[in-house]
Amino acid sequence: MKVRLFQPSVGQEELNAIQEAFNDAWIGLGPKVTEFENAWRNFIGCRHAVGMNSATAALHLALAVYRFPRGKKVLIPAVTFVATATAALYCGLQPVFVDVREDTLGMDLDDLERKIDPDCVAVMPVHLCGHPVEMDRLLAIAHKNSLKVIEDCAHTAGGIYKGKTLGTWGNIGCFSFEEKKCMTTGDGGMFCTDDEELVAPVRAMRWVGIDKDTWKRNVGYTCEGIEDRHWYYEISLLGYKYNMNDLAASIGLVQLRKLPEMNARRTAIIARYLDGIEHLEHIRPLIPYDLSGGNVYHIFGVRTDANNRDNLMRYLKQHEISTGLHYTPLTLHPLFRAHKEAVPNALSVYHQIMTLPLHAALTDQEVDYVIDAICRWSK
Ligand SMILES: Cc1ncc(COP(=O)(O)O)c(C=O)c1O
Repeated sequence: MKVRLFQPSVGQEELNAIQEAFNDAWIGLGPKVTEFENAWRNFIGCRHAVGMNSATAALHLALAVYRFPRGKKVLIPAVTFVATATAALYCGLQPVFVDVREDTLGMDLDDLERKIDPDCVAVMPVHLCGHPVEMDRLLAIAHKNSLKVIEDCAHTAGGIYKGKTLGTWGNIGCFSFEEKKCMTTGDGGMFCTDDEELVAPVRAMRWVGIDKDTWKRNVGYTCEGIEDRHWYYEISLLGYKYNMNDLAASIGLVQLRKLPEMNARRTAIIARYLDGIEHLEHIRPLIPYDLSGGNVYHIFGVRTDANNRDNLMRYLKQHEISTGLHYTPLTLHPLFRAHKEAVPNALSVYHQIMTLPLHAALTDQEVDYVIDAICRWSK
């Protein structure tokens, strides 16, 4: 049996939705993007949602829209995907790496407080694996220090912390619809905010700086004043080609309808894993998965003794079970070598962790096959 690490759950319904966009012969930035943005806004409970071609783009624009002076600092957890940190580099800002908690791998808020200095302008909590960062305490720290809060929600979609959806706690929430995530549009992302002032600039910046998108120009304008001419637009901001397109949005609308079911399936799989490995002495869950409430997890993993982790990975590979590692601390990558902040938890935990297969299409039989293999290896 071959078991994949991640796999998108896409099928006939998504194909039908793409067919519909083909029939309308509008597959770029168009009405489907607007429809998906509205559906996502209602789902998350935020005032504005702007569709992007990735979370990487959303994270970049989340920092770019504030126009922080170059050289200012952004606080980023040491354990995350590289896109959280490159967002700062794209804007000429300096990432400052904050250590993670030993248990949850989320940002360590004591270390956050230690690392804040007057040059810091923003903090980017990452809900790693889908486990929520303590957003109430983080917001208090951020307010006290005048930091903008940009939530990286790439690993969750609909997760709730203390009654409030993740992605609506900070000034901005960024989501990913890349193929491996809780739901997918192939590639895609969403920029979410309640701050009205950010919306017009971000809409222009995702569309090469143009303040009217082609769809609006197509449906709207008369020829009265210069502003109303369909062909007229102004570019006053440096923009990027970051827009979501109607093909992606068509898939997203279907995936969003399926999301509660897919989230529930991943929760059930995690419960099965936890039950299956509970009795093992040398295997522990990666983080304290809490399945009792509103958490939505994208990654399931385990920890083992540091000197045994790679043996277990090899053993599982021999049995055609894919594994992964989320993530090598960013401070170990050559790109970030200049950033010498102390992140001891990230550096020690890194040797113990591995990711196991988790996706909504995984069968109970496949999960049991993985559990059996781990149990056999542990003997
Ligand atoms: C934590 C985190 N942030 C950001 C991203 C970037 O997402 P995208 O691939 O949609 O750009 C990812 C993707 O893996 C991620 O895991």
